[in-house]
Amino acid sequence: MPKNANDFGAVQDAMENWWAENAEPVFDPANPKVRLHHPTFGPEEVMALAGQMLTTRVTMGPKVQALEEGFCSLLGYQNGVSNNSGSSANLLMLAALTTTKTEDYLRPGDEVILPALTWSTSLWPIIQRGLVPVLVDSDPLTMNVRPEAIEQAIGPKTRAVMTVPVYGNACDMGAITAICNQHKLTLIEDCCESMGATYDGKPVGSFGRVGSFSFYFSHHITTLEGGICVTADEDLADMMRIMRSHGWIRDVKNKDRWLSEDLGYDERFTFVNEGYNVRLSEPQAAMGLVQLDKLHGFVAARQQNAAYLNKALSQYDSFLKPQKQTENSTHSWFGFPLLVEEAAPFSRDEICSFLNENGVETRPVIAGNLARHPGTNLFNYKTSGTLEGADAVMDRGFAVACHQSLTADALEYMTKVFATFFDTVRST
Ligand SMILES: Cc1ncc(COP(=O)(O)O)c(C=O)c1O
Repeated sequence: MPKNANDFGAVQDAMENWWAENAEPVFDPANPKVRLHHPTFGPEEVMALAGQMLTTRVTMGPKVQALEEGFCSLLGYQNGVSNNSGSSANLLMLAALTTTKTEDYLRPGDEVILPALTWSTSLWPIIQRGLVPVLVDSDPLTMNVRPEAIEQAIGPKTRAVMTVPVYGNACDMGAITAICNQHKLTLIEDCCESMGATYDGKPVGSFGRVGSFSFYFSHHITTLEGGICVTADEDLADMMRIMRSHGWIRDVKNKDRWLSEDLGYDERFTFVNEGYNVRLSEPQAAMGLVQLDKLHGFVAARQQNAAYLNKALSQYDSFLKPQKQTENSTHSWFGFPLLVEEAAPFSRDEICSFLNENGVETRPVIAGNLARHPGTNLFNYKTSGTLEGADAVMDRGFAVACHQSLTADALEYMTKVFATFFDTVRST
């Protein structure tokens, strides 16, 4: 075994050879399949992860800190607090915002406006922390929350707004930040599917008080499972560090704030609040650090693929609309979402069946309209206005692959399958 756990020599060569011989190809013309996702990691990440295991330093430590700092400096955030999933990142944001030790904290019964068209774990932490979600509508073309819908939902109990840029498409942050400023609302950004996206040259997640990202396997970069919260608010970042780890102060940056009343007890085991254990591990962070260097390249590949698909599918525009990019934004294309027009002579299920039967994998666009899910209806929530846009996406939306590894063959094959479908539609 090498003395230096980062110097694997022959092991690394063997791993690379193994990967070259055994890893699943992105696209095999003999058995054409275009999966929604392809792993973003390879032998380099596996070696980084294994190397960290060999050091036996496995629980949260310097690698996790390096990943947080690297993520913030690469993308332009001030403080990063990693955790074990995008869902945990959302929980941690809401936990820190609802604790009495946080300035201007949200109180039980306060209302949080968010789009009905989102993922379940945008919603659950709002409910779990005693707040009342108010679901509002989205534009079915951008698939993002409509600023007018937010404005109309504001009432005496409204304290916060959560934005969710869908599939890497930034929300209209100009209008939304103006509304939040005017009504003194806390802005929370669930950017779990939008790493690398910007609005007006600024990264999503940096417009509000706090934002979240996911490092799940299928996302822009991965630590297998994982997530990170970002904020410019140092106290809030420390509160998330406390609540991420049992409620102790071990990881806070500003210890003085918490040690002013001397407990006379071991500082490492001093608990100053309630908390969870939602930490990331060192091997995951070691892998994440390798992934971080690849993020910009992955996003650029996704953008190129989207440009290809947008062009290739534009001829079907009267029946099938690709997601419309928000003006003044850069899109990071988590996937390629589409909406079947109401007047189309085929249904969403018909086109998806055809695509799937021909090896082009499809999926729904996140959860569609959350108000229609049985789980949501177990809890106290409100809606405001119609949810027609979210319904349209739930009933007529779907997504195909736009991942970093799509080859020219794969893209060509996808467009061929779409063309065959439309030929069939025309001839019937
Ligand atoms: C908008 C949104 N929020 C939260 C999550 C949860 O992230 P994770 O799967 O890492 O828990 C997802 C997952 O894709 C998501 O799309």
